[in-house]
Amino acid sequence: MSKVTVKDLNVKDKHVIVRVDFNVPLQEGKITDDNRIRAALPTINYLTENGAKVLLLSHLGKVDHKDPVKEEADKKKNNMAPVAARLQELVSAHVTFISETRGAALEEAVKNEKAGEIILMQNTRYEKGESKNDPELGEYWAKLGDLFVEDAFGSVHRAHASTVGIPTHLPAALGFLVEKEVTNLGKAINDPKRPFVAILGGAKVSDKIAVIDNLLKIADKILIGGGMAYTFMKAKGYNVGTSLLEADKVDMAKEFLAKGEGKLFFPVDTVVANAFDNPTDVKTVPSNEIPDGYMGLDIGPETIKSFKKELEGAKTVVWNGPMGVFENPRFAVGTKAICEALAELPDAMTVIGGGDSAAAAKQLGYSDKITHISTGGGASLEFMEGKELPGIAIIPEAK
Ligand code: 3PG
Repeated sequence: MSKVTVKDLNVKDKHVIVRVDFNVPLQEGKITDDNRIRAALPTINYLTENGAKVLLLSHLGKVDHKDPVKEEADKKKNNMAPVAARLQELVSAHVTFISETRGAALEEAVKNEKAGEIILMQNTRYEKGESKNDPELGEYWAKLGDLFVEDAFGSVHRAHASTVGIPTHLPAALGFLVEKEVTNLGKAINDPKRPFVAILGGAKVSDKIAVIDNLLKIADKILIGGGMAYTFMKAKGYNVGTSLLEADKVDMAKEFLAKGEGKLFFPVDTVVANAFDNPTDVKTVPSNEIPDGYMGLDIGPETIKSFKKELEGAKTVVWNGPMGVFENPRFAVGTKAICEALAELPDAMTVIGGGDSAAAAKQLGYSDKITHISTGGGASLEFMEGKELPGIAIIPEAK
C-alpha cells in the first residue's frame, strides 16, 4: 500500500499547512547550506502553482525552555528570518514571514492570504509544547489550515506537534520530498537487489547499534570504518592507541563480531597521527599495530583496496557515516575513495543516509553520481533501523 500524496489533494484556494525541514546550518545569521530549502521547492512550487494558500512550518535548531536565559539566546540564534529571505530568493511566489508562532498577526496573515502565496511561520520550537506534541498546540496550528502536507523528511522520526499533532486533525498527505525519500530508502532497505552491501562509519558505535542489528539481518556484507571501527578493533584485542573508543561498548562489539562472522569487514590498515590538531607525525600502520600515543583518523590504502573489492558487483549499497575525519583534507582520502567507488558501480542503487556522509559526498563533489542522498540524518538512520517513523505513519494509506 502507498500513502496519500500531495497530488491526491484538491488544493485550489485551500489553506495548506506544509511541515518542511528548514533546519539549515547558520553561521552568524547566514545560511551556509540551503540544500534543505531547495529540497522542499518541488512541493512548495506545486502548491502555489495549483492555487493553494501555503503556510510553511519548520523547526530550526533547538530551544532550551528550561532556562530562561538560554531560551532567549536560543530563540535569537534560531530565528527563521534568514530562511524566509533565502526562500523568497528561490521562489517566484510572494513570501510573508510571520515572526510569531501563534496570535493575531499569524491568524490575520493566514486569513488575508491569497491563492498562490506563501507564509513562513517562526521556528516551531519557539513553542515549548512543540517537542512534547502538546495536543492544544497541534489543534491550534491545525485550525490555521484545511489540509496538511508532510514534507519534512528530516523530522519524520519526531512525534512533535507540527509533525504528528496537526495531521491528527486534518486530511493529510506526503509531499514530494518525503515520497522520494520513502521510495528510495524503502527500495534499498526493504526490497534490495542483491548483493546488498552496507557501509557504516562515523564516530560512535553507540549511534549505530540498532542499524548494525537490522543490517546484519538484511545486508549481504557490512563494511565498517570511521571512528566506530576502533571499538571493534579493541574487541578483537588490538591496541587502539588514543583512537576514539567507547569502552562500554566493547562487549557489544564482541557480540556483533560473533553474530556477523563472515559478513563484517574492517579496516586492515589505518592512517594514524600523534595528535588531532597539528600532528607532527602521520603514518599508515596495520590496524592491529596502532602505536601507543597515536590515533586512527582515516582508513588506509589497503583497506580502500579491500573495501572496493567487497563492493564489486554490488547491486544495492547503503552508506552512513564517513570513513575518517574528512573535514581535514589529509584524512579525507578514505571517505573520498568510498564516494568514488559508489560513483563507479555500474547498475547499482547507491543510497547515502543523511548527516556527515551526505555532507562529505557533497563537499567532495559526488552528489550527482549517487542514486539518492537523504536529507534526513536521524530520520534516515531510524529508517535503516527498520523503525516506524511517526511523521509518516500518521499519513493515511491511499485508497
Ligand atoms: C536534522 O537536522 O536531522 C533534523 O532537522 C532534525 O533535527 P532534530 O534532531 O533537532 O530534531
